[in-house]
Amino acid sequence: MMFTRRQALQLGVGATAAASSVAIANSLSKQSQLDLTDVGNASLRERAAAKGILYGAAIEWAELSDSGFNQQILQECNILVAENEFKFGRMRPSLDRFDFTASDRLLGFARRHSIPMRGHTLVWHLALPDWFEEQVNRRNAEQVLTNHIQTVAGRYRGQIHSWDVVNEAIEPSDGRRDRLRRTPWLERLGDGYIELAFQAAAAADPEGMLVYNELGLEGNHSDAETRRRKVVELLAGLIDNGVPVHALGIQSHLTGGADYGQFEHLRPFLSDVASLGLQILVTELDVSDQHLPADLQERDRQIATLYHDYLAVLLDEAAVIAVLTWGLSDRYTWLSSHAPRQDGNAVRPLPLDDQLNRKQAWNAIARALDQAPPR
Ligand code: G3I
Repeated sequence: MMFTRRQALQLGVGATAAASSVAIANSLSKQSQLDLTDVGNASLRERAAAKGILYGAAIEWAELSDSGFNQQILQECNILVAENEFKFGRMRPSLDRFDFTASDRLLGFARRHSIPMRGHTLVWHLALPDWFEEQVNRRNAEQVLTNHIQTVAGRYRGQIHSWDVVNEAIEPSDGRRDRLRRTPWLERLGDGYIELAFQAAAAADPEGMLVYNELGLEGNHSDAETRRRKVVELLAGLIDNGVPVHALGIQSHLTGGADYGQFEHLRPFLSDVASLGLQILVTELDVSDQHLPADLQERDRQIATLYHDYLAVLLDEAAVIAVLTWGLSDRYTWLSSHAPRQDGNAVRPLPLDDQLNRKQAWNAIARALDQAPPR
């Protein structure tokens, strides 16, 4: 018997459990056939485009002076995002000044090569400048927030594929009943800051896709389930209030060695988000190998399996329109400093190794894109 998405949602847990046992059986049979050795040479960009999907990576301006890396970016990516250059702290030397040097350069690069670029991120609790704490208060916070969004999204109006308007607004462990994160913006503006940000972004760049971006949604445990429920509740509430939100960004920083099952637990969440009429982007995918064995082949195999299993489920949902890894090559990854290995070996979280060679992880993404239903 076939159900519409809404009917399946209304049927609730029973239907979800039945659907996931079928899905588990399917994915087990898929996994037993998983062979990542021979996937052909076509780039990730080409494979994604063949399905109506975008594949891309986070970059920093300084990395583009590395010509080998630059060439790989152009070869593999049909969407880009600045890892840091669009953040509040980077653009705001002082309360009354903006510095667009770095963001202009990166967007210029993307535009010269006709690659759409994402805007990450307009409102976040991190990467705020030193002056923020002292100079932004309850009286001026609304003006500071809306002025920042109007100026940044207005400057790049019509030129950005999608804006991460609000990033990481949820943190159940912060102890609030509404499970929102206690951020400097929330402290000064209350929970209305999220709505305010989306309204300001829509006014400044009416063509831009407006995204709510969140972390920690992938796990097969109750904490991640709480986050997923809260995300759906938050998005549904925004939509009910007529707030212009168009997509969910699922960051997807995966941890090698964690027990994700086959990611089947994500299917009901993805279809709940899609049922709200939203698109979904995988915005920051990588796999930390901090706790994986030192043996290179085994380590790469486990990383690749996670990439494949995760994307097999995500890309099965037609609302997922883009996959971005948080970097392209192990030569440049935030995990080298933020999650290094205790044995001193270099981390290998990304599709290309530090010599820019394709790894099993690259093959895994290629295979998952090839298996995805067309959009
Ligand atoms: O800009 C300074 C530079 O001048 C200095 O020489 C250098 C020395 O350490 O530090 C530079 O800044 C660092 C910057 O990365 C560039 O490498 C910051 O200290 C460091 O905090 C910053 O970390 C970034 C982090 O966000 C905080 O903004 C990471 O690169 C970036 O990968 C990470 O990305 C976040 C996403 O935005 C949101 N989701 C989670 C993701 C991972 O944490």
